[in-house]
Amino acid sequence: MKVLVIGQGGREHALVKALSRSPSITEIHAAPGNDGMSREALCHPLDWKDTEKLIGFCLRTEIDFVFIGPEDPLVDGLAERLRDRGVLVVGPNREGARLEGSKIFAKTFMEEAGVPTAAFAVVDSVGSVREAMMKFTPPYVLKADGLAAGKGVFICKTTDELIARATDLFEKKTLGAAGERALLEQFQPGWEMSYLVLTNGHEWKSLPIAQDHKRLRDDDEGPNTGGMGTVAPLEIDPALRERIEKEIVAPSIRLIEQKGLVFRGVLFIGLMITENGPTVLEYNTRFGDPETQVILPLLDGDLGRVFHELARGRMVPFGLRRMHSVCVVLAADGYPESPVKGTPIEGDLGAESATAYFIHAGTKKSPDGRWSVQGGRVLGAVGLGSSREEARESAYAQAAKARWQGQRRRGDIGAK
Ligand code: GLY
Repeated sequence: MKVLVIGQGGREHALVKALSRSPSITEIHAAPGNDGMSREALCHPLDWKDTEKLIGFCLRTEIDFVFIGPEDPLVDGLAERLRDRGVLVVGPNREGARLEGSKIFAKTFMEEAGVPTAAFAVVDSVGSVREAMMKFTPPYVLKADGLAAGKGVFICKTTDELIARATDLFEKKTLGAAGERALLEQFQPGWEMSYLVLTNGHEWKSLPIAQDHKRLRDDDEGPNTGGMGTVAPLEIDPALRERIEKEIVAPSIRLIEQKGLVFRGVLFIGLMITENGPTVLEYNTRFGDPETQVILPLLDGDLGRVFHELARGRMVPFGLRRMHSVCVVLAADGYPESPVKGTPIEGDLGAESATAYFIHAGTKKSPDGRWSVQGGRVLGAVGLGSSREEARESAYAQAAKARWQGQRRRGDIGAK
């Protein structure tokens, strides 16, 4: 089978790598892909926004199914446009993707589904924030309604800070249309996990639980980032897992089905485990980045077939490998505020074994074969092992093989 992966980051390289191990996949294409995945995929300079060109490519190349990696094309309705033209797709239609594309839609959906989530108010002006904040106690959470590339959530310790962030959103319009409306939420202390399920909109299969490390520096210090590293599987109390399945996953999928949403893909549930149990922070409607880098290597079976059948609306069983995985993100100097691009990368990016390798997120290869930094998150060093410790050692040994000036990385991924 031939597959086309849409996207260009680390998540998409992890997908390409997993599909390259699938016996039923004969050709992997990526649009646009990145230089680091060109060993496994044929990369094409196609823009997903040009639907006609993309469909023309799929038909000409006889693509069996398309896997849409990032949220923007899903929220824009690309899956639906492809389906309307007879192309099989992994990814929800536009209405399903609103679970990620509109935080207000998602929160209303959670309320209707009866899944636990923080108390909230919808706000659209500084005045409405002043009025609504009386119902909450600090710290406050202000979340822009629309997609904001990870920059739309503000945790405010004081009312002054909350009003300043509300002024940014509603008066200075710092996030444009994405910040025209927002959610004001009660902050909930606890610990986070990434709970992902594959679903066809009525059945689901839960994937190994992953944990992301969002802060830039060790011990969860420093600014928020897109994710500095992940571990999987996160082993949790079976009773907690049962609660998550029963109180959160089941009612969410049931409501997706009741609403008739075309949802063949990944529902990524961001959970906060509070002293009162699990609550939903957010839904995403795609694989996580860098969660994908640690989840996919733990899946056993022909993933090409699993995803192709999912695109047709069918769930097929697959196994889980009894292994652990760790991904350490290597980021550019200046990340996340202002990543420095163009820095030469020293080391051996081709170094690869079955249990240690690089996933490329933001690299560029020059015609003479030299690599340089091209994005904020540059590489993911992935390590696998029979224990968390072994996986962590592998990942850090791999990470040491790539160096550049000002490289940022955490030293404590998988340490706890
Ligand atoms: N790692 C978080 C996300 O993909 O949204």
